[in-house]
Amino acid sequence: MTDRDKFLDDRIRDIINTYIRETESDLTPVTRHAPPSRLIEEMDLSLSREGCSLEALYTFIEEYLKNSVRTGHRQYYNQLWSGFSLPGLLGEMITALTNTSMYTYEVAPVATILETELVKKMGGLVGYPDPEGQFVTGGSNGNLLAMMIARNRERADARRKGIRDGQRLVAFVSDQAHYSFEKAANVIGIGSDQVKKVPSDIKGAMFPEELEKMLEDTMEQGLVPFFIGATAGTTVKGAFDPCESIAAIAAGYKIWFHIDASHGGGVFLSPKWRHLTAGSEKSDSIIWNAHKMMGLPITCSMFLVREKGHMLQTFTVSGTDYIFHDHELGVHDLGPQSLQCGRRVDALKLWLSLKYYGDDAYAARIEKFFSLSAYAENIVTGHSNLELMAERTSVNICFRYTSPHIRDLNAFNKKVREEMASRGLNLVNYAFIGCDLVIRLVLLNHEAEKADIDRFFDNFIRTAEGLLEKGDKRGLS
Ligand SMILES: Cc1ncc(COP(=O)(O)O)c(C=O)c1O
Repeated sequence: MTDRDKFLDDRIRDIINTYIRETESDLTPVTRHAPPSRLIEEMDLSLSREGCSLEALYTFIEEYLKNSVRTGHRQYYNQLWSGFSLPGLLGEMITALTNTSMYTYEVAPVATILETELVKKMGGLVGYPDPEGQFVTGGSNGNLLAMMIARNRERADARRKGIRDGQRLVAFVSDQAHYSFEKAANVIGIGSDQVKKVPSDIKGAMFPEELEKMLEDTMEQGLVPFFIGATAGTTVKGAFDPCESIAAIAAGYKIWFHIDASHGGGVFLSPKWRHLTAGSEKSDSIIWNAHKMMGLPITCSMFLVREKGHMLQTFTVSGTDYIFHDHELGVHDLGPQSLQCGRRVDALKLWLSLKYYGDDAYAARIEKFFSLSAYAENIVTGHSNLELMAERTSVNICFRYTSPHIRDLNAFNKKVREEMASRGLNLVNYAFIGCDLVIRLVLLNHEAEKADIDRFFDNFIRTAEGLLEKGDKRGLS
């Protein structure tokens, strides 16, 4: 028997099948919530000189699966992604099987064509007639690339000479924007203090008038605004900045206008909800994480630029003739316009998923997320002990449990969350709105139904009431 026969026998298919079947069951805990000490004690973490049998490898894989969080479970609400994709799994398997890198057409011919087609398709949905773009390592990376392109547009010699006056360049995002913009400012040499936070409204959407005021103030101080980043789907509240108004401001001041649609990009697929991004066609660049609302395996992030040429201009360097050759296939290479050298294939899983389900199924899926979110919001507003903490725009529902008997609402709600997680009932995250700790429920599992939302709130309310009955010291006055 060859290694190939041994590794690819029915055993691995059974393990995968069992894992998926268990994850589908309401009775399976979402997480074991084990501290590192327990995992280190329970798992065989030895690595030896002589290796191990295939049997021992399978045993380890089963241990790995047993101790992993079941992010495909219908009670997993912890992040801005959840659920499981079978075409995505196939895509990842075939990607590993054909193990290649996206730098040259020569070594990744089909993947290069698929990625190029996906740039056209996703760019078309955003409203870019002839875009450039590529898959990048995530939303944070997309925000960095956008800011780098904007810096180099403002300072034409920055690519080769760097910038000596970074503190004169100013970027604008809302006070709800993702932290990656500050990291990006750090990387591009202007410093995170140069990212100015524009106030947002009660829903979490940027006030365009405040942006304009801040732009004027900045210029009066002799500084140079070079980048505006709007967010389509903010991390905590799920809000959408008004892109139409922001685009008009950016055009008026001739500033690069980027949209961070890492979370909310999926709405481009829904005729009913794409209005939330109205004006996107006027942006200069956008990042859209298909691993979030579209449910593909992590990572699957498409960075797009409206006009061709910016990526090559920003990311190209010399000394690449060992890899990028001057022959007829070389013109199709995606490497020269990339910040990375080697780059994994992220196109196949998205391609297979779009091909199998089709656009209509995706539109229905996005619409279902929104209607389930409205359903969850109604449960919150209809319960006397639940308080909605932010007006809902999309799929994030921020709420908390309240009662006159609770002294410290933050500690109490955190305790409810921890208690549910420790029993494996669900995994839901918390965040802060001002000084208030809020439970952030994010509804993005395409297999979830109303019964799953009911189950979540039953567990939440029962756990909170149980803690109150026990007179939990953290919470009671
Ligand atoms: C609005 C927003 N932008 C960017 C990111 C970062 O994306 P990634 O984790 O793919 O780097 C996130 C992460 O959740 C996000 O919510």
